[in-house]
Amino acid sequence: MPMMINPLRYPGAKRSLSNYIDALLQANHLQGCTFFEPYAGSAAVGLELLQRNQINTLVLCEKDILIYAFWECVFRDTDRLCEKIERVNVSITTWHELQPYREMTVLGDAELLELAYAGLFFNRTNFSGILKANPIGGIRQQSKYAIDCRFNKGKIIEIIRKLAAYRDHVEVYCNDALFFMRSQDQRFLNENCFAFFDPPYYEKGAQIYRHYYTNQDHVQLANYVRRVHHLNWLISYDDAPYICGLYGDTGTRYQPMFMDYSCASRVRTTGQELLISNLPLPPFAIGEAENL
Ligand SMILES: C[S@@+](CC[C@H](N)C(=O)[O-])C[C@H]1O[C@@H](n2cnc3c(N)ncnc32)[C@H](O)[C@@H]1O
Repeated sequence: MPMMINPLRYPGAKRSLSNYIDALLQANHLQGCTFFEPYAGSAAVGLELLQRNQINTLVLCEKDILIYAFWECVFRDTDRLCEKIERVNVSITTWHELQPYREMTVLGDAELLELAYAGLFFNRTNFSGILKANPIGGIRQQSKYAIDCRFNKGKIIEIIRKLAAYRDHVEVYCNDALFFMRSQDQRFLNENCFAFFDPPYYEKGAQIYRHYYTNQDHVQLANYVRRVHHLNWLISYDDAPYICGLYGDTGTRYQPMFMDYSCASRVRTTGQELLISNLPLPPFAIGEAENL
């Protein structure tokens, strides 16, 4: 398998599900499909499947304008984005200068390229890639880890250029996931479609993302997948009793799996994830974790 590449270090990225979802598509004759990621984040699975030529079109939707702008510019304004990355001074001064972009919530508040640049900057310089977190090394930069320790310009630019070559196969939208998916209904009739829903975590979403879900939002997602027709879908969640309760009566399939399975110790630790789908779900093979 080719090495997965992604310019974002994203909290909750589902790279480890790529092999599993790849196998799921193959088992259901969905190779070459239009693959929707309505909670895009780093779009780790979709971009991996695109590079494996397992899907034809990747449709990304993301509510966070900094993340949306980043992907839009990766695919539609590649050169200018790469030039900005090449020139950036990765310092605490730049981190402070870019603060106004973290306050913006509406796309029209700034040029898209500036939003994209700020989104990437905060993603690569903040703790764990969390956009609303403090910088690596702290505000005072007194730690042994400096703000630029995760900002390898050459590598980031190389990855962006490689991904940009797929631009004719990628659509990027800034919207609420469910509002967006309802607008795509006609496509589900006309195209071979698959949707991978990876909503904000039930337990920790509010700590990690700038947009997260209330209980009512989680209910709405469950109601949406109950009613959507002509669409094959998979949802990944943290394994919370509240979420299990939402899907218990839908006739869908569950597959608990352990995302942070440790290959070294071969011990299952905490952090169980839940997969829910309207397709038959094969068991998660432990061996797959070794391909992570
Ligand atoms: C669990 S993360 C997705 C991670 C992604 N699968 C990956 O591999 O990187 C959830 C994402 O949903 C986004 N989000 C939150 N609320 C949203 C909404 N109402 N509509 C669309 N995206 C939303 C968050 O900003 C976050 O990027």
